[in-house]
Amino acid sequence: MLVSAKEMLDKAKAGHYAVGQFNINNLEWTKSILATAQELNSPVILGVSEGAGKYMTGFKTVAAMVKAMIEEMNITVPVALHLDHGSYEGCLKCVEAGFSSIMFDGSHYPIDENVAKTTELVKLAHDNNMSIEAEVGSIGGEEDGVIGAGECADPQECKAIADLGVDMLAAGIGNIHGKYPANWAGLSFETLDAIQQLTGTMPLVLHGGTGIPEDMIKKAISLGVAKINVNTECQLSFADATRKYIEAGKDLEGKGFDPRKLLAPGAEAIKATVKEKMELFGSVNKA
Ligand code: 13P
Repeated sequence: MLVSAKEMLDKAKAGHYAVGQFNINNLEWTKSILATAQELNSPVILGVSEGAGKYMTGFKTVAAMVKAMIEEMNITVPVALHLDHGSYEGCLKCVEAGFSSIMFDGSHYPIDENVAKTTELVKLAHDNNMSIEAEVGSIGGEEDGVIGAGECADPQECKAIADLGVDMLAAGIGNIHGKYPANWAGLSFETLDAIQQLTGTMPLVLHGGTGIPEDMIKKAISLGVAKINVNTECQLSFADATRKYIEAGKDLEGKGFDPRKLLAPGAEAIKATVKEKMELFGSVNKA
């Protein structure tokens, strides 16, 4: 069932668990994530970066594929199709394409401009029954060409953006996209706590979910995080399983070169990663 992310995230925030956003790149990714969510009876958010949208030939292709897969696979758990780190123009395109949720990443604008653009997009999203995520303070590292310095968000600015009526708020708290460096200082729970105190029931979003230790994930959920984004970890699992298949020479045995066989270990590896995360985030049986 394709739905806005609002209800699933409000329930997660109230129930002290988090819904995973898993980014998709192609049909295999989407199929693996949807199958796992259904098997575990978990709500799920499919994240699409602007780069991944382009790779899949455009947001309309993505929306059509996801809607058809939900129907053909008999997926009954709530699924949100969400633009990840969208530009203003990207948000407009996803509204038109039939996504159910958008993220407007205005974190690189001065706060007044972020407020103005977010206000406009909140109205547009809600007029179209879609949920909207905004961002304050940038996530470090690089996500498909979106580069952030990784500064912690100002809790007052978070409140200003939350008060615009967004459905979820991403706040930089020392989190980084991609692999964490060995000298990473960890998440700033002080910042997270201050943000949650000012934003109340607003579901908070933790980007850069790859490689955050379990105890930090659990603490972040206890301080109001209700959505956790994971991208790199599925890519690493997929690449690792595919490499093992090829290194074992399996593509050279019989019809092992058939793409349905060649891509199968990677697709299974994505399922295992998604399952592990859903169990850790506490979203199993919360559909
Ligand atoms: P990772 O690639 O670090 O898992 O981050 C994903 C993310 O935050 C998508 O917005």
